[in-house]
Formats: sequence, C-alpha cells, structure tokens
Amino acid sequence: MQECLDAFADLRLDIFFDGTLGAGGHAKAILEAHPEIVQYIGCDRDKSALVLAAQNLDPWKDKIKFVHGNFSAIDDHLQGVEVGGILLDLGVSSMQLDQKDRGFSFSKEGPLDMRMDTSSDLTASDIVNTWSEDKLSQIFHNYGEMKNARKFAKALAEQRKKTKFETTKQFAEWTASVLGRGRKKLHPATLVFQALRIAVNAELESVWQGVFKALNALKPGGRLGVISFHSLEDRIVKNLFRQAARPDYEWGEERVEGLPGIKLLTKKPIVPSYEEVRANPRARSSKLRIAERLGA
Ligand SMILES: C[S@@+](CC[C@H](N)C(=O)[O-])C[C@H]1O[C@@H](n2cnc3c(N)ncnc32)[C@H](O)[C@@H]1O
Repeated sequence: MQECLDAFADLRLDIFFDGTLGAGGHAKAILEAHPEIVQYIGCDRDKSALVLAAQNLDPWKDKIKFVHGNFSAIDDHLQGVEVGGILLDLGVSSMQLDQKDRGFSFSKEGPLDMRMDTSSDLTASDIVNTWSEDKLSQIFHNYGEMKNARKFAKALAEQRKKTKFETTKQFAEWTASVLGRGRKKLHPATLVFQALRIAVNAELESVWQGVFKALNALKPGGRLGVISFHSLEDRIVKNLFRQAARPDYEWGEERVEGLPGIKLLTKKPIVPSYEEVRANPRARSSKLRIAERLGA
C-alpha cells in the first residue's frame, strides 16, 4: 500500500482511474493523499464490491464515478479523456475469497462458480462439466502450469461421466484423491482452482488489454501502477512495459504495435515489506510495477 502511494506521491492528480476498486482500500488512501483529485473513476466487474466501496468512500462521494465493468474496456469508460494516474490491483479480493457462495475457495463449501462478474455466463461448473478434455488440458497447463495437466484432464473427463461436479469441496476432494498430497505444502487443488478462475474470468486477456489501453489513456507524465499476484499476470505487465520503454529495440515477432513511449520507474518489481506480509499474508506474492508516460 505504501509503495503504491509513493508511486503517485509527487504528482498533482486531476483524474484518477482505479480499474479494480474492490472495497475501496487503495481508493481511500489515494483520495486522502491527493485532495486535488477532481474525479476518481472506480471500476470493478463485481457489483457487490461497488456497493461496499460506495459505503466506505462516502466522504468522497461527490468526486467518485462508479463503473460496473471490466477495466479492459477502459477506453470505453474514459471516452477519450486522458488521466494522470491509473491503478490496477489484479486478481480476486479477500472479500470474494471469503464469501463461500462465490465458489473461489476450495476450503469453503460453495457452488463451483468463480465469476467475478455474476452477470456473466460462464461458471467453473460449466468448464469442469462440459469442456472437452483437450480444452481442459490446455487451461490446466497454461493457467495452472501443472506438469500433469493432460493426465488430470483425462481423469476428470472420465470421472464426470459418473458424477457431476457441483461444489467446491466435492471437486477439491476429488482433485486431492487424484493428484495426491505431494511433498509440497500447497494443497493439490491450488493450481487447479487457479486455472479455473483464470479461465472463467478470462483474466489474462483482460490484463493484456487493460495494461495496453491504460498506457494509452495516460496523459504525458501520468503514471500506471499494476499490482500482480502470480507470474502469469506479471509476465504480461513486464513484457508490455519493457516494449513501451524500449521502442527501438528489435523485438522480432513479439513486437506489440501501438504502445506509447514510457519511462520504466521500476526496473525490478517492488515486493511487499516483511511487515506488510506479516500483517496481510495474502500480499506475499504481490509485485508492483510502475510506468510513466513520456512527453511531460
Ligand atoms: C485485489 S482486489 C482490489 C482491492 C482494492 N484495490 C482495495 O484496496 O480494496 C481486485 C478487485 O478487482 C476486481 N477485478 C479483477 N479483475 C478485473 C477486471 N478485469 N475488471 C474490473 N475489475 C476487476 C475484482 O472483482 C476485485 O474486486
């Protein structure tokens, strides 16, 4: 949190876009530190987060515009308005993990859902019970980085002929029975649930689109901070930032067209302090990268 505030500390902000408003924790801190902000656009794809944020941010209600939507559509949300600061704090919130009826957590009994936006169609249950073995294998490999993705997908395709998977615990227990406990401390369902969540919410596509468009939405001298929670997200942010910072470099086939010039303010990502991780263990794998649009 402190590092995130530091990222914007020396800027005079006018309009700020918060793509992942959540309960409004970062928003409150940023609004307190920057009374000069005229408009704070708080976007979240989870409607219930916006309701809670509205309560928590009541003192600033005249400055805040709440947007229910995906930050990957930031260009539609901003309609050409350039902004001085953007924050994307990726992933799920503690609130979503703790609400068992949302189905994000394998340690709490709930429906196999995992939608951040409950008005969207695809659920984890749809994927587990209806996607082809090939598609399942791809998501477990690409989004869960599971070594035994193919074998696991095959076992799942067999098992669901006998039982439909409906709840988180039912699925997690079956997963553990197939994958075994292993030697690591990680619960065997961790990577499987990560893969499903990323697929249900098309998270990586959103991150790519969101970061690409956010860089383009900054005014000269404006800054984008992105907090990621696993290497799949961080790799996307790192790659787009690197390319925008070094447009003359020979990027070959990887080259992304249409990025504006930026200065990289974090050569290495910022990681949380020991104290922050002790106070909030869920922050332990987070990485913050900051970019500044050139031309101020
Ligand atoms: C880690 S939490 C953010 C917490 C927030 N910064 C705070 O201080 O309370 C992530 C939030 O981003 C939302 N989110 C994740 N991906 C999103 C996307 N592509 N578009 C909009 N919101 C998204 C989630 O619904 C969740 O509420």
